Amino acid sequence: MKNVILIGFMGSGKTTTGEVLSRKLGIPVSDTDAMIEKRENMSVNEIFDRYGENAFRDMETELLLSLQSDPQKRILSAGGGMPVREINRKLMKKLGTVIYLQADSQTLLERLAGDTSRPKLKGGDLFSRITSLMAQREAIYLSASSIRVRTDGKTPEEVAAEILSALETASEISE
Ligand code: S3P
Repeated sequence: MKNVILIGFMGSGKTTTGEVLSRKLGIPVSDTDAMIEKRENMSVNEIFDRYGENAFRDMETELLLSLQSDPQKRILSAGGGMPVREINRKLMKKLGTVIYLQADSQTLLERLAGDTSRPKLKGGDLFSRITSLMAQREAIYLSASSIRVRTDGKTPEEVAAEILSALETASEISE
């Protein structure tokens, strides 16, 4: 099988769903934010504060480039902004099957309320930030992915089961 790459908005459940999929498929899960934080020895918040968003996006591209030659098959939970750069969309497609975890703005609001770890959500009204960023990104997430799964009102187990069945249909896990 190929790598499985989970994309979607912050709070769409990439990390938890990735963990469930990892258990079910018996391959490791890696979170791109956590990988970058480890490499840089700094939190995503600190990277944005010190070097700015563009530098963080460069780090995401570098990470995707380095994964191209990694023989380890894995589930990759991608940072929510990773698909925004075209090069990243191409690199993710080369790396494996890209799955978009869809969530509506109300679901995201409930999941993200009180969060302070995400620089893109800082300041102003959370719901407006979510809706305006989602308006910019929805088409990007759709074009970056080959499988889409709605997550509203579902547990990570239910979402993972839908992903597995979509992967089977696409014959991705028998290859
Ligand atoms: C971002 C999403 C975050 C993280 C950074 C920027 C974004 O990842 O990469 O805060 O631009 O959507 P999660 O989607 O894992 O929260």
